[in-house]
Amino acid sequence: MLDKIKSHISKVSSFSAQTGEELESFRIKYLGKKGILADMFEQFKNTPNEQKKETGQKLNNLKQLIQEKYNIFKTSLSASSEKIQESDLTKPAFPIYSGSRHPVSIVRKEIIDIFSRLGFTVSEGPEIEDDNHVFTKLNFAPEHPARDMQDTFYIKRQSYEDSSPEDILLRTHTSSVQVRVMERQQPPIRTISPGRVFRNEAISARAHCIFHQVEGLYIDENVSFADLKQTLLFFSREMFGKETRIRLRPSYFPFTEPSAEMDVSCKICGGKGCNICKYTGWLEILGCGMVHPNVLEACGIDSKKYTGFAFGMGIERLAMLKYQINDLRLYFENDIRFLEQFKAAF
Ligand code: PHE
Repeated sequence: MLDKIKSHISKVSSFSAQTGEELESFRIKYLGKKGILADMFEQFKNTPNEQKKETGQKLNNLKQLIQEKYNIFKTSLSASSEKIQESDLTKPAFPIYSGSRHPVSIVRKEIIDIFSRLGFTVSEGPEIEDDNHVFTKLNFAPEHPARDMQDTFYIKRQSYEDSSPEDILLRTHTSSVQVRVMERQQPPIRTISPGRVFRNEAISARAHCIFHQVEGLYIDENVSFADLKQTLLFFSREMFGKETRIRLRPSYFPFTEPSAEMDVSCKICGGKGCNICKYTGWLEILGCGMVHPNVLEACGIDSKKYTGFAFGMGIERLAMLKYQINDLRLYFENDIRFLEQFKAAF
């Protein structure tokens, strides 16, 4: 009997189970009603009294060992069977939520791409500017209403009576970047400046105190209004489709002469008239003109030798037309329900 117990102890000690079935047959073999353990306890009854103590102890050791073995493999096998379930390839995948670009970024990139194809480079400049770069060098007369506190966020004013080229302010257009380019580079210049601009306006569906612009500048010998018109026609057709027509209306900007505002034929109704174009068939998208000689001279460029054109457009406005967004405030509120609608665009 003692020998039998010993041999089972060594067998059980070296036992290991890879699968649930192996463990189950181990259980039946040792712990089952007709198993080895039950059989041995049966035989134990017939053990001579003088051997009972030792045999009983050994038998109990064996029983304990079997139980422990069984428990260990039971827990480890059930843990690994959970793991197998985790990597069940037939399970439906977790949904992956991808982000999306902001409509302003999408349209900004589109505008840059179109002008890059015409050889325009991208220039950037500071948002906190001085009056000199935003107004004075751009031929704004000292009393021009655009310098007024109504439109401009001033950070530091020299005097509240008069404006001064040293006043520090938030730029109201990115024409200031073009001034900086002209100051440091002689023509040929062909650049666009995208960026954020600030104007002191009451916030509504149609106006906001922050928005984004892309302004363009082209200076070289013999640049004419025809070049401007053709460049803008190319841009409009790339942006709004091959059928797009443009129309230039005379306008006024201190830094360009002559100046114009440009409309594109309404993409929604094809020019027939709808509520987007207010039944005119046209949508205004940008301001433009030939760079004023005073601006060239103020920036150190010979206005007898060089001419140039400039234009500027609001990105939000273009995105509004492209995506039919009817409230400017949506761009800045970061409402996820609004932003999620641009997932398909890049
Ligand atoms: N700077 C003008 C604006 O902010 C746009 C513009 C740029 C007009 C260049 C003409 C030429 O409204």
